[in-house]
Amino acid sequence: MLPETLSIKVTPTAHSRIGEVDFDNLPFGRIFSDHMLVMDYKDGEWQQPEIMAFGNLSLHPATSAIHYGQSIFEGMKANKTEDGEILIFRPEMNAHRFKESCERMCMPTIPEEVFIELVRKTVEVDKDWVPSKDGDSLYIRPFMFATDDFIGIKPSETYKFVIFTCPVGAYYSEPVNVKIEEFYTRASEGGVGRAKTAGNYGAALFPAKQGQLKGFHQLVWTDSKEHKYIEESGTMNIVFVINGVLVTPSEDTDTILRGVTKRSVIEIAQSWGIPVEERKVSVEEVVNAIKDGSMTDAFGAGTAATIAPIVKIGFRDEVLNLPLEGREISTKIKNYLDDLKAGKVEDTHGWCLHV
Ligand code: COI
Repeated sequence: MLPETLSIKVTPTAHSRIGEVDFDNLPFGRIFSDHMLVMDYKDGEWQQPEIMAFGNLSLHPATSAIHYGQSIFEGMKANKTEDGEILIFRPEMNAHRFKESCERMCMPTIPEEVFIELVRKTVEVDKDWVPSKDGDSLYIRPFMFATDDFIGIKPSETYKFVIFTCPVGAYYSEPVNVKIEEFYTRASEGGVGRAKTAGNYGAALFPAKQGQLKGFHQLVWTDSKEHKYIEESGTMNIVFVINGVLVTPSEDTDTILRGVTKRSVIEIAQSWGIPVEERKVSVEEVVNAIKDGSMTDAFGAGTAATIAPIVKIGFRDEVLNLPLEGREISTKIKNYLDDLKAGKVEDTHGWCLHV
């Protein structure tokens, strides 16, 4: 629980917007719930968090995050069960990753149990915004940025931590086409690839746009030194099924984001006796496995993307097709995960936090 000094002040909005929302047609990331949590850091400590009406933040033009990039975020989801209970999926993993991002970006950490309680309370206040339609969720976006009004390169002494939530539908509304990127780089060893920091996403926009102009939704990033090994896909981690084995790039590099969905996929597969290999995955292996038919499935795994089937992989001048049929493993894992998050199967792993 929160230390006494961090009790959460709640100032409810006077004008709920929930009546304006079409819960039958939810886009991703465009509708925002009634409230947000704001907690400032100054004088070396976190101040009292407040849940208030969702609205604009006022910023000094010299706000250091805008200039020097100390800005990190998380993404997680809450779902409603048939009994109307609210479940948040594995928030402790996001709390831990957020702490790691703070450390890498020289930002003050938030104790993991405090982070979880702030998320829980924010969701509780807007519990009516959690969609009940299958496949829809409440997306939770905690983020932190540096707020010193100062021109100069040094870690800021003040920060703002905010959590807002959005009722969302699918991030990808169709199976995904990806292109293996052999020139641009998302992350290099010693860099910030493992941190969920805003600059990683900004830097990927230009290369991703080149891919989008050729009809691909996303890139598949490769290692920065040789562009020989697969890393991740920016909006999601990437998983293949080759000869019945679930194969995914290992995380023993600091260039890949430690995905909560990917980790869950691996743990579920292992608990079902499906062989899993977390190791270096070469571009050559992937291309050959598609061509010789030993790859039967490829999918992205991410909080926003969930389990996103990959049906085309572009490599140099070729486009390699992976039929949607015969994806028993990813379909079974996806259905299980969906059921778990919606409280339809017993939570044997203890992954869901009851709000
Ligand atoms: C998430 O999956 O939560 C992300 O942050 C990725 C982004 C594409 C929405």
